[in-house]
Amino acid sequence: MSGPSTYEPKSGFTRWLDDRLPIIRLGWDSFVDFPTPRNLNYWWTFGGILAVFLMIQIITGIILAMHYVPHESMAFESVERIRRDVNFGWMIQSMHANGAAFFFVAVYLHMFRGLYYGSYKAPREILWILGVVIYLLMMATAFMGYVLPWGQMSYWGAMVITNLIGALPFVGDAIREWLWGGFSVGQSTLNRFFSLHYLLPFVIAGVVGLHIWALHVPGNGNPVGLDVRKGDSGKKDTLPFHPYYTVKDGFAIIVYLMVFATFVFFMPNVLGHADNFIEANPLSTPAHIVPEWYFLPFYAILRAVTFDIGPIDAKLGGVLAMFGAIAILFVLPWLDTSKVRSMRYRPLTRWFFIFFVLACLGLGLCGAKNPDDLVFVMGQDAEGHEVGFKYLWLGQLLTVYYFAYFVVVLPLMGIIEKPKERPASIEAAVLGTDKS
Ligand code: HEM
Repeated sequence: MSGPSTYEPKSGFTRWLDDRLPIIRLGWDSFVDFPTPRNLNYWWTFGGILAVFLMIQIITGIILAMHYVPHESMAFESVERIRRDVNFGWMIQSMHANGAAFFFVAVYLHMFRGLYYGSYKAPREILWILGVVIYLLMMATAFMGYVLPWGQMSYWGAMVITNLIGALPFVGDAIREWLWGGFSVGQSTLNRFFSLHYLLPFVIAGVVGLHIWALHVPGNGNPVGLDVRKGDSGKKDTLPFHPYYTVKDGFAIIVYLMVFATFVFFMPNVLGHADNFIEANPLSTPAHIVPEWYFLPFYAILRAVTFDIGPIDAKLGGVLAMFGAIAILFVLPWLDTSKVRSMRYRPLTRWFFIFFVLACLGLGLCGAKNPDDLVFVMGQDAEGHEVGFKYLWLGQLLTVYYFAYFVVVLPLMGIIEKPKERPASIEAAVLGTDKS
């Protein structure tokens, strides 16, 4: 918590409580009188939106678990029963399934905000790393949750992803069987995925607690990336969290919930895959196995490695590249060598960042396509088949750029780029009074 506490208990009870468990003081100092930079824009509202969605997922999930049956022969039907027969089951199920997608939209915007404004830089490295841990936990939770309805894509998605573990040398097969609880994806897998899918959101909630703690020690970053000044002038750089940011966050949360409601009530299945409305059948593989949209960029990176690299065969190479794409985020604070946090003042790196966002979107597209599909046609071969530029090649190019952004662009730009002039303080940036 930055700065001394300003809480003053008013009644006899709150004074008594404050001496024993200063929980109201903690709430007051963290969410009422917390000094918050006065220039935060709407990109800073996604943390609050994420907290709301974590709660929505936990509450709707607990209700779903009251009616869901984690059994190979009943899981699919139990979800159908929830949608048709349980009171408001259609709404709760739709909120949970669409909520996962909205959770990921918010987390990606929150992360790209962090990348653009250099929120991962000192003194917020731990805050960022805790965020990456949350992101990994979210991916594990979403992956296991998708298996539970036991549709075709649930089953075959689980099969493809767990089989990747088999690519690890020596221990791969043993770990895969240990995960499955048998010799294939089956009843034991479904049961343990259900158990872990219920557990992990509470672990996420715990890590979010640490995340907010790590946020409240240095305080929020801000769009110009300057520190709040020390002493009395610092007061001119900040506003109390309440009412200024409770209202701003509240407004953003309501707008986001309105878009969410449009999906829940008017197009509940539009984000789902048609194959997942068919019950899992181990004897019939779907034509194209694709993960949920929020995993697509990583799926493209996995498939981009089609060649052996020395002793590492293509499959293991793909798995390492996929995990590497996330692991690299852990060391990001030390890869970016620039002293300037915000991209607003980094004219060249800003362009690289824009291309990085486009590369992530492009990778998502490549993940959704068949690698042999053509981005554009260049002609026909002797047998009359169309030839052209394959999605596989686009995915490979973008994978190279993804990694180059972290290991070449950010380390190098910090050294060679000349940043633009920054305002003297947060106050000056808001009032536009000082350019020096
Ligand atoms: C359940 C998921 C998450 C929740 C509830 C959450 C919550 C929050 C909240 C409330 C804030 C302060 C308001 C704001 O800046 O938007 C924040 C800031 C931050 N979060 Fe998260 N977060 C989550 C996931 C993540 C992830 C996945 C990352 C990065 C990988 C991340 C990185 C950060 C950083 C760097 C800040 C500081 C930004 C700044 O002040 O400049 N968070 N988070």
